[in-house]
Amino acid sequence: MKIAAFASGNGSNLTALVENGIEIDLVICNKPDAYVITRANNHNLDCVVIPTKGRDQVEFETEMLAVLEKYNIELILLAGYMRMVGATLLNEYEGNIINIHPSLLPSFKGAHAISDAYNYGVCVSGVTVHFIDSEMDAGTIISQVPVLIDDSDSLEQFEQNIHNAEYQVFSSAVKKVIKERNEKSIS
Ligand code: GRF
Repeated sequence: MKIAAFASGNGSNLTALVENGIEIDLVICNKPDAYVITRANNHNLDCVVIPTKGRDQVEFETEMLAVLEKYNIELILLAGYMRMVGATLLNEYEGNIINIHPSLLPSFKGAHAISDAYNYGVCVSGVTVHFIDSEMDAGTIISQVPVLIDDSDSLEQFEQNIHNAEYQVFSSAVKKVIKERNEKSIS
């Protein structure tokens, strides 16, 4: 199964996916100065930069689709892709786009889920891996793991604990999806 990862930032989840044995055929990055580009190069992954800032969504998603088609991509992993996916991509890949979100959805949607959960004072937050739909941080859940917050945890410590959980659960959820699809195609 050909897999693409979309990312906008640091790319630590991309590294974890690669180190956990997920074969990534293509990285699409929408931020020309993102560190994930360096990581992709270090992992010898093909990386295409498609800037999105200030551009029409149909236009840049059409550009993304052309690259995805060129690589025969079947599954897209949103590994810190900080944009909503629009109808252009969703229509072609519905049911085949997986996102990782640093909270136990449906709690704490949005770009600041880690600090939002911490500042709210919850004792348990966590990580969700899910298929996306047209709503923000919504869609069928594939896997969730809890992360406890101790009274003594700083925000930085909690953030690190969330990321450590992400590095495990993202790969195992993707492996589960790939296995199910392989089994389906055999039967
Ligand atoms: C992760 O916390 C992920 O859950 C969220 O964006 C962050 C990306 O981190 N969607 P990185 O770029 O993989 O280091």
